[in-house]
Amino acid sequence: MAEDTPRKVKKVLKAIFPVAGMGTRFLPATKSIPKEILTLVDRPLIQYAIDEARAAGIKEFIFVTARGKSALEDYFDYSPELEATLRRAGKDQLLETLKETNMDSGAIAYVRQNRAMGLGHAVWCARRLIGNEPFAVLLPDDVIAAEKPCLQQMVEAYEQTGGNMVAAMEVPVDRTSSYGVLDVAEDMGSIVQVKGMVEKPKENPPSNLAVIGRYILTPQVMNNLNKMKAGAGGEIQLTDAIAEECQTPGKVFGFRFRGQRYDCGSKAGFLQATVAFGLSRPDLREEFSAYLNDMVAMQKAAQ
Ligand code: UTP
Repeated sequence: MAEDTPRKVKKVLKAIFPVAGMGTRFLPATKSIPKEILTLVDRPLIQYAIDEARAAGIKEFIFVTARGKSALEDYFDYSPELEATLRRAGKDQLLETLKETNMDSGAIAYVRQNRAMGLGHAVWCARRLIGNEPFAVLLPDDVIAAEKPCLQQMVEAYEQTGGNMVAAMEVPVDRTSSYGVLDVAEDMGSIVQVKGMVEKPKENPPSNLAVIGRYILTPQVMNNLNKMKAGAGGEIQLTDAIAEECQTPGKVFGFRFRGQRYDCGSKAGFLQATVAFGLSRPDLREEFSAYLNDMVAMQKAAQ
């Protein structure tokens, strides 16, 4: 239950980024490029997730990777030759941009998921690095444009509630079968208390409040994953491990974040995000919006 005074909760300092999926919806591109390296304007999806985690106070970044994802590891490496070249050329602005990609030694860890057995399994692969602490999970293909970064909003809410918290948003009822869906016990506005969760319900969804790719979880969810069997789609579902916690009131909360979420795991979502982020960039806005207006006018004229 939300309270006016913050609870004594353990700080969330660790985040898991599950990036071991095959990204089949972006084949053939993802045959050799990890989906998380695909770029929105000039920044890969993973950079948006890292920035959001940093803003929320995360200090340890744990990537669950798989074969073919080495470009991701290289992305976070220090690049002395490139930096030296930029320095010689006096390209200070680009040097600054490059700094955002550097991670402190020891702040980043990689664990391997040998087989893509689902999101729950990917998260479980990081269990030894999490130990007995609360942790965040960020799916980099959910990109969220928000004044205050989504995970930061969630950390602030979690400091009031404790327990587990999942980011949630309203979706049309006929789209609920694509999401984990919340069964709401008590709706308190931006925070909802949850009494159940169903992964991709084929019929009778308990609500139209869908879970998207940001979570703050307790170590107990890791313990639940230890004994989890394959659920919807033959995969080990994170939703099922969180749903177990719903049996005790006050252990699971949904959080209606403020912001616009783009499903960059789908082609349409990725294109929408590209347009939105392109238009939000001061250096591109004018030229890009003029181009889009021309395109729309041409389309209309051709109809
Ligand atoms: P998706 O359901 O989007 O799967 O995973 P995917 O493989 O990335 O993409 P498609 O559907 O084949 O196009 C959601 C998140 O969970 C991770 C993915 O990397 C992505 O961040 N994931 C999924 C894993 O790390 N391991 C898995 O076994 C499954």
